[in-house]
Amino acid sequence: MTKDRVLIFDTTLRDGEQSPGATMTHDEKLEIAELLDDMGVDIIEAGFPIASEGDFRAVSEIAERSKNSVICGLARAQLPDIDRCAEAVKKAAKPRIHTFIGTSPLHRAIPNLTQDEMAERIHETVTHARNLVDNVQWSPMDATRTEWDYLCRVVEIAIKAGASTINIPDTVGYTAPRESADLIKRLIETVPGADEVIFATHCHNDLGMATANALAAVEGGARQIECTINGLGERAGNTALEEVVMAMKVRGDIMPFDTGIDTKKIMHISRRVATVSGFAVQFNKAIVGKNAFAHESGIHQDGMLKNAETFEIMRPEDVGIAGTSLPLGKHSGRAALRAKLNDLGIEVGDNQLKDIFVRFKELADRKKEVFDDDILALVSTAEDDGNQINLVNLKVVCGTGGQAEAELELEIDGQDVTAICKGDGPVDATFKAVRKLHPNTARLQLYQVNAVTEGTDAQATVSVRLEEDGIVATGQSADTDTVVASAKAYIQALNRLLVRRSKVGPGADAKEISYKDV
Ligand code: KIV
Ligand code: ZN
Repeated sequence: MTKDRVLIFDTTLRDGEQSPGATMTHDEKLEIAELLDDMGVDIIEAGFPIASEGDFRAVSEIAERSKNSVICGLARAQLPDIDRCAEAVKKAAKPRIHTFIGTSPLHRAIPNLTQDEMAERIHETVTHARNLVDNVQWSPMDATRTEWDYLCRVVEIAIKAGASTINIPDTVGYTAPRESADLIKRLIETVPGADEVIFATHCHNDLGMATANALAAVEGGARQIECTINGLGERAGNTALEEVVMAMKVRGDIMPFDTGIDTKKIMHISRRVATVSGFAVQFNKAIVGKNAFAHESGIHQDGMLKNAETFEIMRPEDVGIAGTSLPLGKHSGRAALRAKLNDLGIEVGDNQLKDIFVRFKELADRKKEVFDDDILALVSTAEDDGNQINLVNLKVVCGTGGQAEAELELEIDGQDVTAICKGDGPVDATFKAVRKLHPNTARLQLYQVNAVTEGTDAQATVSVRLEEDGIVATGQSADTDTVVASAKAYIQALNRLLVRRSKVGPGADAKEISYKDV
């Protein structure tokens, strides 16, 4: 291995799966292992074979199927653990046993071993593992809280017993970047034989410094980073694979290290791990969060449209995201709205854009995020001007205490008129009020409601089809209030029916008029 290569050791299936609630099924583990192997992870820690029959089966099958990655199993410093682990990884083309013991005073107290007794146990177990496989990794758990002299002593013992990778875990996420770099550097300088093995870093995120600590350890001389997809792991999680890999890629000028990772596969595996583990990725998580490549504010969107580098330090395509998203919200400007309309294949003149922008801002004030379908709905609403009937005001009282009542104010041919009607539910009351104010014999052929976007603040799109004397017209409207959308759709259909009737007269052949035709 060249000195500028950093090995990526992924422990999503072991340390990650250990986080409460993140248990994956056998098939899900196989799927994730395959994705890790495919993306170029050097070592996959596939599980803890002694922990359960299921873990053993998963590690064995992953070992058997692995193509390129080293397949590693975890084992405590006990001979039966190590035997079981060796059995599980034996079918891998490149098997590894990872054995560990807690070396800090707090951890030594649990098995109640003296320093000498523990040193002896380390010698015995690493030697045993090395007799079973060529590739042995050893970890002094809670290394960052282990006495310096004792840490040097046990690391030396493990190297002499045949471990080729020495992992230095910050088990409780206690260290800080400068200390993390120093610790590895001093171990490499101090421990006899250290230059013949690879030092690894394994950081937990209790103080939010796992990724920074891992990268600092690399500066100190570590050449293997232990990490998980999405930073999954015990408590606050582990170093996130995507963060260390992208940090080294983007800041190659100050971190001149290569990983063999195909970064374009990051987003896909991140989503799969989120789905199978049930641990959703927070929106603002670096690299893989929903908002990592999203820009809402008008200034940022304008900058992004002129030059993506103004607000992005990496390309979304590099991590497998189709592209930057400029979600439209109340901070968005006209440039972003025009860009979105163009994306949707809609060309608008300046005046039309002004009009749509006003409606868009009104909507954005009521909704957190405005989606493509919202925009389409706004555009079609904006197409209808100069109608004979316009909605002025609608108030509806409904609930469990009796019939719904709608108070409707319309402007018909320039005159404001009001009606109050009761009905079977708010929509029925509203439609009755429309008919009272503009009597007609149109028959309601279709009434359909769809939520065009997600969430309880979603816009409802209501479609209405009216038929009168063989003339058919449809209306469609979107609003966060379903009853308002219904009233608007009904009125739109009625307006179109009136236009159609004035053109063809009653009795024409029944023909559907799409709202786009009017
Ligand atoms: O955090 C830790 O110390 C571990 C060890 C088993 C390496 O996960
Ligand atoms: Zn850990």
